[in-house]
Amino acid sequence: FPVSVVLPAAGSGERMGLATPKQFCSVLGRPLLYYTLQAFLNVPWVREVIVVVSQDWLQETSDILQSFSPTTRSKVRVVSGAATRHRSIWNGLKAVGSSTDVVVLHDAVRPLVEEDFLKRIVLAAKEQGAAGAVRPLISTVVSPTKDGSMLDHTLDRSQYQASEMPQAFRYPAIMEAYHNCSEHDLDFGTECLHLVQKYAGISAKLLLGPSSLWKVTLRKDLYAIEGVLKEEHC
Ligand code: C5P
Repeated sequence: FPVSVVLPAAGSGERMGLATPKQFCSVLGRPLLYYTLQAFLNVPWVREVIVVVSQDWLQETSDILQSFSPTTRSKVRVVSGAATRHRSIWNGLKAVGSSTDVVVLHDAVRPLVEEDFLKRIVLAAKEQGAAGAVRPLISTVVSPTKDGSMLDHTLDRSQYQASEMPQAFRYPAIMEAYHNCSEHDLDFGTECLHLVQKYAGISAKLLLGPSSLWKVTLRKDLYAIEGVLKEEHC
């Protein structure tokens, strides 16, 4: 069945504190986005990859695509991003081919996605309507008082999981959720699994993902990714 991938890559990466957005930072001589794209383009059953980038990074993105063969890069389409992650994803979803059965959402800044896990997520979404990767929480979570300065209570971390990527959805279900959601959801929402639950009535299947799925967020993550990729490429 046809599977499409939407890769939001239009963020500015403010938390990294660098002028270059993290997805375009160089790792072993190539922009991070190259590795994420490569991971999906290596999967034969992925029909198309929609990359969502901001206008300012269109040229850099097209340079990255030149490093793939013409047949491989013909699977990629580039669309413009927007002010928030959800609005960028929405632009990507609208560009997906209408015969697509399952659409995978994945952050451009998680380059270590593996085909086996991707397949499990896609099959779960095909069956359930929506599926997402989760990881156990590393830190204990505390709830502070309203002004943030004092401990109010501590949560039992065994009761919670961190929501990671990839996530996959039956294409009509995620489209229904985005069509019906509010402007507020598009501006502030961070969780597509929540959107399909609220607006398409689908509870997602959660799958425990490998630790390599972590999101490159801080500068130190770039060094860590570099270490892993170095090992893989040796
Ligand atoms: O900022 P955050 O780490 O949550 O971003 C996750 C992914 O969403 C990144 O790949 C980033 O480029 C993308 N994004 C986007 N459009 C935005 C903000 C973030 O495509 N406006």
